[in-house]
Amino acid sequence: MGASEPAPFRLVIVSNRGPYHLTEVNGEMKYEKTIGGLATAILPVLENSGGVWISGGNPGGRHPNAPGRPPFDLHLIELTDEQVRGFYHGLSNSALWPLCHYFLGRVNYDWSEWQTYEQVNRRFAQVALEDAHANDVIWVHDYHLARAPYYIRAERPNARLAFFWHIPFPAPEIFRTLPWRRKFLASLLACNLVGFHIPEYVKNFKEVAVELLGAEVKGDLVYCNGHATQVAALPIGIDDAAIDRQARQPRVERRMERLRESLRGQTLILGVERMDYTKGILERLRGMEHLLKTKPEIHGKVTLIQIVTPSREGVAAYREKKREIDEIVGRINGRFSNDLWTPIHYLYRAFTPSRLVVYYRAADIALVTPLRDGLNLIAKEYVAARIHQDGVLILSEFAGVTCQLPEALSVNPYDIEDMAAVIEQALVMPKEEQRRRIQAMQARIKAENVTWWMNAFLDKMANL
Ligand code: F6P
Repeated sequence: MGASEPAPFRLVIVSNRGPYHLTEVNGEMKYEKTIGGLATAILPVLENSGGVWISGGNPGGRHPNAPGRPPFDLHLIELTDEQVRGFYHGLSNSALWPLCHYFLGRVNYDWSEWQTYEQVNRRFAQVALEDAHANDVIWVHDYHLARAPYYIRAERPNARLAFFWHIPFPAPEIFRTLPWRRKFLASLLACNLVGFHIPEYVKNFKEVAVELLGAEVKGDLVYCNGHATQVAALPIGIDDAAIDRQARQPRVERRMERLRESLRGQTLILGVERMDYTKGILERLRGMEHLLKTKPEIHGKVTLIQIVTPSREGVAAYREKKREIDEIVGRINGRFSNDLWTPIHYLYRAFTPSRLVVYYRAADIALVTPLRDGLNLIAKEYVAARIHQDGVLILSEFAGVTCQLPEALSVNPYDIEDMAAVIEQALVMPKEEQRRRIQAMQARIKAENVTWWMNAFLDKMANL
């Protein structure tokens, strides 16, 4: 990765999921790194310049003697089971998550969960206020902690306060259903800087700020109650160089070859996601089913490997979705498999980044077809891992990343006929066309990589 600039100020990062967690090994607590886009972006800066990262974690507090400790100050906030239920499984993932992903039918607005959300946000804010010195920049992340800025600003009017919203910011018609909509907006507008992935989310945010709080917009500044908030569209990037390096490792090459040999010349289609109803896994499987029904000539010639990482199993909607996916995979394989061929390989477990790269290298086609997605880093990782500039990316028109990757084949994931037709188009795409598209996407992924993203934020923060 190209080096991030050293931060000319101390950063205090506040997020629900942290860059490290504590695990118990042989009765001893040990730090382990968490995998994730945000950690990839911010860790190099904290490692070089110091700072604090405040996140949820069990046990809470600081553990200076635990092995594997990061070279900066990590402050874990432990929540009770009841708080986790109300704040994380409840308001965050049963109200805000479906709301922002346009699943109004799945939204559950619960007043006691809202109170727990407020309580937990206030707690994170208090810890941030204790840890942050006067000139530090406090950078809060994501929908779990959208109310923390309000509590920080109330205590410290001069705080340098930034926020990044990692998921879609929905259209005004959707956002307006949120019972606590003005409180959410007022909290985000208590920040000096609010970042979103793409211009559409910035536009939606500005519109509701004007409509619901009477804010005034001038360019990228939103004025409300005499306070200015700068808003910016900055899609998070990946460490493209690290993926390229991993993809070229002999070990990856060997594993990739073994995987390809097991497919005996078939075309490999790949899907990778967290188990989530927003990811369109079921719809994609229906598209495959339609293709297999209508094109018997591809039987035995195409395999879909669908990797699904378990996620948010404490939320009923997620357990339900898993049952539906298990069922449809069984139905498709039951109907179409023969002695030599199983059309869907369904792997329900977590994979390390280096194992995922083996699949990225092996796959002729990547199907990234969420029903709605803030950005989507799998699409970028697949393209970055294509070291021979071949392969086809099929991308949902409802993923934020489409505006960075217009050369992907676009699909409406709700339309199974469209899905089947686009997969067919990918199956016959000439190598030269694959190369042209992948090269264009690789250039953009490199230009707008994680270092670019981080430096863009650091530059903006320097002026807060
Ligand atoms: O990008 C959205 C996001 O909710 C992150 O905030 C989060 O860390 C990630 O997806 C995975 O979700 P979770 O933290 O609930 O496992």
